[in-house]
Amino acid sequence: MRKPVIAIDGYSSTGKSSISKIIAQELGLVHMDTGALYRGITYFALQNCLNRDGEINLPELFSRLNEIQLEFKPIDKELVMFLNGKDISQQIRSNEVAANVSLIACQKEVRDFLLETQREIAKKGGVILDGRDIGTVVLPNADYKFFLTASVEERTRRRFVELQSLGIETDEMSVMHNLTSRDKTDSEREVAPLRKADDAILIDNTHLSKKETIALIISHLHDI
Ligand code: DC
Repeated sequence: MRKPVIAIDGYSSTGKSSISKIIAQELGLVHMDTGALYRGITYFALQNCLNRDGEINLPELFSRLNEIQLEFKPIDKELVMFLNGKDISQQIRSNEVAANVSLIACQKEVRDFLLETQREIAKKGGVILDGRDIGTVVLPNADYKFFLTASVEERTRRRFVELQSLGIETDEMSVMHNLTSRDKTDSEREVAPLRKADDAILIDNTHLSKKETIALIISHLHDI
């Protein structure tokens, strides 16, 4: 029997990636954190495509997209992100990448470049992709679609704790500012905006633990 394709979209810091990862492990599916792809391109741009003012030169980035090879390699049961052969899993979580990734993610050239990578992995089924436009654009025919949301305060708290655990210095105000401005850019962009697919199941997990959110999602999955 063909294994299902599951799309999990939603706002930043609703736990999409960590929840998808655990569900994939429990059900024997492959998980792709598509946000990491946009972060990988942003990291490349910050390293290689800055103008004299230290800003990302978009035309240069577009002309160099063919130099970018992003891969997920399994290491110690985790999928680790590699850019042109180098492990960049830590670097893509930096504040600098977080502050620039929405600009990169609203570029049509970048989204088109990443579309095939995402569709290719879903072809054989047995996958969970988490992101912002998986249910609406990347995999509109996914077997299951979920859309996660939570209050801004709770999402700020979660991201702050996550950054602290990674040893990244920050404060709650700047985390909240980064979250809300990213959500705004992601929702208002012209190409593939962050939006709940009409047929996605909405889950507000403000008052749910990770475990409870996972159980709720699994309760909707049949024949797996
Ligand atoms: O999930 P994340 O915070 O790692 O995502 C990083 C950025 O990438 C976020 O600002 C939105 C963007 N993104 C997107 O536009 N489409 C996706 N499918 C995944 C992420």
